[in-house]
Amino acid sequence: MTTFKRNIIITGGAGFIGSHVVRLFVNKYPDYHIINLDKLTYAGNLANLKDIETCPNYTFVKADICDFENVQKLMEQYQVDGIIHLAAESHVDRSIKDPFTFARTNVMGTLTLLQAAKIFWESRPEGYEGKRFYHISTDEVYGALELTKPEGDAEGKGPYGNDFFKETTKYNPHSPYSASKASSDHFVRAFHDTYGMPTIVTNCSNNYGPYQFPEKLIPLFINNIRHRKPLPVYGKGENVRDWLYVVDHARAIDVIFHNGKIAETYNIGGFNEWKNIDIIKVVIKTVDRLLGNPEGASLDLITYVTDRMGHDLRYAIDSTKLKTELGWEPSLQFEEGIEKTVRWYLDNQEWMDNVTSGDYQKYYENMYANR
Ligand code: NAD
Ligand code: TYD
Repeated sequence: MTTFKRNIIITGGAGFIGSHVVRLFVNKYPDYHIINLDKLTYAGNLANLKDIETCPNYTFVKADICDFENVQKLMEQYQVDGIIHLAAESHVDRSIKDPFTFARTNVMGTLTLLQAAKIFWESRPEGYEGKRFYHISTDEVYGALELTKPEGDAEGKGPYGNDFFKETTKYNPHSPYSASKASSDHFVRAFHDTYGMPTIVTNCSNNYGPYQFPEKLIPLFINNIRHRKPLPVYGKGENVRDWLYVVDHARAIDVIFHNGKIAETYNIGGFNEWKNIDIIKVVIKTVDRLLGNPEGASLDLITYVTDRMGHDLRYAIDSTKLKTELGWEPSLQFEEGIEKTVRWYLDNQEWMDNVTSGDYQKYYENMYANR
């Protein structure tokens, strides 16, 4: 059996952000064993990791983070010394319809991982030395900011308001999704404060890029434009989100996992606020251009629909601490990131068609059928 320098479980590695983190770690650290622990819910898709699935330092394990005995067994089996925890229910609209699933996975699942890690690590002669439990969270736990500059203004700090979420901002979640993530963040910090577990929490803004499930704004709209389907804009489209290219989030996770200080919180974001309606227009323009449609051809697909319940008005992350203390900065300008993203979805229509038809769920069965 190969001995690796580190044995790291990445939970939720078959999802959107998780797949980018797994890819980065598997390729960059051949001396680390990366164990992707994922239940393969509707959001998990092993086709996201086709390019690295045969790498010798990669193992996929289909498992539920809520299954305490199994997680304990896996900790022991793989002699795990690091956990990067991304598995979650992640879509706000689903949380409004089915909050229980969010409490189960996001709260109980996180607690299950914490407790299993605690028992295993405390049983080792070296204890918590060299161990790390890194929990990935969201800016949505901070609540919502005011839109003090509704028309947008390049002057001053932020285009839509001068205030930002900082690491010290008091938690004030509004949706069942953000309430469940806030609760899980509290459990992680409690395990540090109570048992001395070496934990880190990061709170990131909205991600965009390849392999995102097309229930989220950007991939949903790209796919709808391609099929000339309506683009459902919630409310007046005036809500503001702060967008970060997913590969830059994965890079930040790498830096923080290795160099972040135990018990600290780091905000991750690119100071890139957009009103929904404006980002939608950029997406339309880019898709039309790349498909060879006349400019503005798909604008007629914009359809204003009833607003999301409890729709947070504005998110804006201040990631100064991460830049100053650990030197991380986004590598891509937004224009470049959105171009890359639209191109990727248009070039990978088979991926999108497999997801929207449900065929992607057969990938795992086919892959493992003959083993
Ligand atoms: P996603 O929905 O694309 O993927 C979630 C993954 O978790 C899937 O592969 C799914 O199969 C897996 N999973 C769900 N329940 C599980 C369970 N019980 N056991 C094991 N695996 C399970 O999510 P994402 O957008 O990649 O987000 C990943 C993490 O990052 C989440 O914790 C989310 O809260 C956080 N986050 C997301 C964003 C964003 O914009 N997407 C921004 C900030 C933070
Ligand atoms: P989403 O991608 O669901 O991320 P989040 O809710 O975590 O921010 O939504 C981004 C923004 O786009 C949010 O303000 C809701 C809005 N939205 C729409 O207007 N229409 C849609 O069909 C979707 C999915 C989102």
